[in-house]
Amino acid sequence: MANSISQNNAVITGVGGWVPEKVLTNEDLAKTVDTNDEWIRTRTGISERHIAAPDEASSDMAAKAALAALEDAGSKPEEIDLLVVATITPDSAMPSTACHVQAKTGLVNATCFDISAACTGFVYALDIAHKYIITGASKKAMVIGVDKMSAVVDWQDRGTCVLFGDGAGAIILEAGSGESRGIIATTTKSDGRLSSILRIEAGGSAMPLTAENIGERRQYIKMEGNIVFKHAVRSMYEISEETLEKAGLTHSDIAWVVPHQANMRIITAIAEKLETPMERVVTNLERYGNTTAATIPLALNEAVKDGRIKEGDYVLLVAFGAGLTWGASVIQWGG
Ligand code: UT7
Repeated sequence: MANSISQNNAVITGVGGWVPEKVLTNEDLAKTVDTNDEWIRTRTGISERHIAAPDEASSDMAAKAALAALEDAGSKPEEIDLLVVATITPDSAMPSTACHVQAKTGLVNATCFDISAACTGFVYALDIAHKYIITGASKKAMVIGVDKMSAVVDWQDRGTCVLFGDGAGAIILEAGSGESRGIIATTTKSDGRLSSILRIEAGGSAMPLTAENIGERRQYIKMEGNIVFKHAVRSMYEISEETLEKAGLTHSDIAWVVPHQANMRIITAIAEKLETPMERVVTNLERYGNTTAATIPLALNEAVKDGRIKEGDYVLLVAFGAGLTWGASVIQWGG
């Protein structure tokens, strides 16, 4: 599915992020599983990650990011008419995490729903909100990517538990009035035939939780890391090229690439294929690990707030995750 430049444009007018207070370092992990700081840093680029408190749900983190984005945009909660939350770690199966966020932030006039596209969730949700805006169905939308991965990783599996962290990022999207082209082009893709390489088996309708499958640890993430790695590099590169072409731009026009933060080796491989120096790639996985749907808005938030991303800059967002799903969006920054 794809969209290209429209007569109307939608621009990002506010960004916000939140990570929980508790920091879990590689050294901390080495005390509980058979791993070490050197392996984690060299194979993934991660040094530490933030872990939510037991009573801190996805909606709590999302609400904090939402309030920060509202403040950044100078918007009131009641002005938001659409809230799309991307997450694979909802507070519970129902109601949606978006409805919980609504109640916690006073978005009283918003239509609220969640979408599930794992690490590509933010790009999918942004695409949905963009389409609501350009069709006139929404005037001011909020998009949140949030995940509490600490609730679904197997803390006994060194192959996955070292990779993930918790966090939330939010943006406000509205019809543009200035010079910026806003969201210029987005491409999203899926391949469900490869669902088994990154999955959580138990806890849904296919395999409701039982004492037996909990004993077998089937409620946690399972990943065939090597296979996922190869698909991630190829798919993120190809969809970036496709989306840049749709936007009528080339690599050299892009001021900043904001990629999904899963593994620094994946990010450097994509940057190389895109002929983009790492100085123009926003990374923060060293401090946060892979926060799934939150990686892109968290990275975007940091790069906007510290002045790296400036008015008029062309920015490429690109993600890959379970499903398989992958997506990219080309944006011209500014309101
Ligand atoms: O966000 C959604 C998408 N997710 C991703 O994109 C993740 C993609 N995959 C990856 O990032 C990488 O495949 C991993 C970081 C998960 C694994 O890195 P790898 O270089 O593919 O390592 P490997 O799985 O081939 O394992 C190499 C060795 C193995 O030991 P042997 O068999 O060579 O003796 C593993 O058992 O490293 C071992 N190993 C570890 N050693 C220390 C695996 N995990 C660890 C660990 N600490 N945490």
